[in-house]
Amino acid sequence: MGTGLSEKLKEEVQKRRTFAIISHPDAGKTTLTEKLLLFGGAIRLAGTVKGRKANRHATSDWMEIEKQRGISVTSSVMQFDYQGHRVNILDTPGHQDFSEDTYRTLTAADSAVMLIDSAKGVEAQTKKLFQVCRKRGIPIFTFINKLDREGQNPFDLLEELEQVLGIRSYPMNWPIGMGKQFRGVYDRKLTQVELFQGDDHKEIQVRKVSGYDDPVVKEIAGEFFYDQLVQDLELLDVAGDEFDYEKLRNGELTPVFFGSAINNFGVQTFLENFLQLAPTPTPRKSNEGSIDPLHEKFSGYIFKIQANMNPAHRDRIAFLRICSGKFERGMSVKHVRVGKDIKLAQPQQFLAQDRDIVEDAYPGDIIGLFDPGIFRIGDSLCQGGSVEFDELPTFSPELFSKVTVKNAMKHKQFQKGVDQLTEEGTIQVFKTIGFEDLILGVVGQLQFEVFEYRMKAEYSSEVQLSRMTYQFARWLVGDDIDPAKFRINSQLVKDKKDNYVVLFENEYALRTAMEKNPNLKFLETAP
Ligand code: G4P
Repeated sequence: MGTGLSEKLKEEVQKRRTFAIISHPDAGKTTLTEKLLLFGGAIRLAGTVKGRKANRHATSDWMEIEKQRGISVTSSVMQFDYQGHRVNILDTPGHQDFSEDTYRTLTAADSAVMLIDSAKGVEAQTKKLFQVCRKRGIPIFTFINKLDREGQNPFDLLEELEQVLGIRSYPMNWPIGMGKQFRGVYDRKLTQVELFQGDDHKEIQVRKVSGYDDPVVKEIAGEFFYDQLVQDLELLDVAGDEFDYEKLRNGELTPVFFGSAINNFGVQTFLENFLQLAPTPTPRKSNEGSIDPLHEKFSGYIFKIQANMNPAHRDRIAFLRICSGKFERGMSVKHVRVGKDIKLAQPQQFLAQDRDIVEDAYPGDIIGLFDPGIFRIGDSLCQGGSVEFDELPTFSPELFSKVTVKNAMKHKQFQKGVDQLTEEGTIQVFKTIGFEDLILGVVGQLQFEVFEYRMKAEYSSEVQLSRMTYQFARWLVGDDIDPAKFRINSQLVKDKKDNYVVLFENEYALRTAMEKNPNLKFLETAP
């Protein structure tokens, strides 16, 4: 491998931006994704992404959703080119298919776009996803959507980011009016006014100005809005945070963009700023230290496995994030956990590429590998050497069910299924102390349904799930752990690695236990 590859590798890495959109259902993620894809020319028709979503959610029957996995696999990662950049958008399932996969997908992103409905502000799911990004310290960009509708005061929204999420913000633009009176935005960096106009608001006009005190701004905004705008911008200049690139890179400051995805207003400016400010693929930690994307040997790890629910096709797709080097179809790589070489022959491509099979790919890209059952979440693949990327975090489950097998004769298959599905990351499993009853823990209801279905289809085990009232799990660290201390609104159990975990019914029970056991640590994820 000569300098030819390293030059090419550098160029490809420089081009790439891999991110996930984090939001609460209905904030407009599908709409925004679609507009971004339209800019990239990856889709030609508005409604393409939307259509998929409608198909997926029109039915509450989960089996029906799964039958369509053929398409939803491709929408798990969307790739497009824009102004010399290659953009990878990772889909984070939001509605009924919210699961641990959603969290794990975030580990494959180098930055996140947080989408907020201007009327609703920071909502529950956004908060959860934000916290995962926060822990990783990745840059977070904020798009405040639906400015064409009556929403909250922009200052209140920024205040909410700070109060609820604990992140400072820097508005890149500022709305002029809102709802029916929405005139457009003032771009603070480019000192220009972007106008929201035309009968259907589909025309966007950009007027370059010398600053917000330029008479043109007044003329455009009208007296009333102008006064408000100037007041707001002066306040931001005086009391707001300064734009600080370092803070942005560390996820301590979020650049905020106001716009309206459905009207395609503010989306292009957002995209262009994002491409400029968002990081190129970042190094990943491993047993051999930090692996730089420019490292010439290919490496990557699996962050998600999607099972095909069609019993005739038991195959799965394993999603791999490329961390270094170049991927070439048919290459042999080491499957580090099992210590064997394997050939990557049939990598899948995702929406928006014109080929069916990926021929080559670079750091930041996600490829879908055909998985005959050899991969687990967190597995590392590499060329030469034995790079093992750091274990993926586990996420504290929020829903719990006791699980038993309906037919005791099937106990062996039942156990095998539970073990394999746990390893795959489909569910987390806990054992009660003494009785060794099994409790499943998940973050989304769909995970229970997947478990139940796959146990039956793949392990011929019909299971009985009984929901429990616990809402939190905390891993205990410390000596002297006494089950008797965790009996009121809580229960001590063990995870698959025999770590002690306490399940709590409510926050009060958790807080009380923490107060009563100052010698113990209560961790949100496995130690
Ligand atoms: P999601 O993927 O985050 O769940 O949201 P999605 O894009 O599906 O958007 C949720 C609803 O919000 C949709 O309306 C969508 O049209 C609307 N929406 C998205 N962006 C904007 C915006 O900038 N302004 C306004 N006013 N609405 C916006 P819906 O009625 O649920 O669906 P549809 O009938 O429009 O398809």
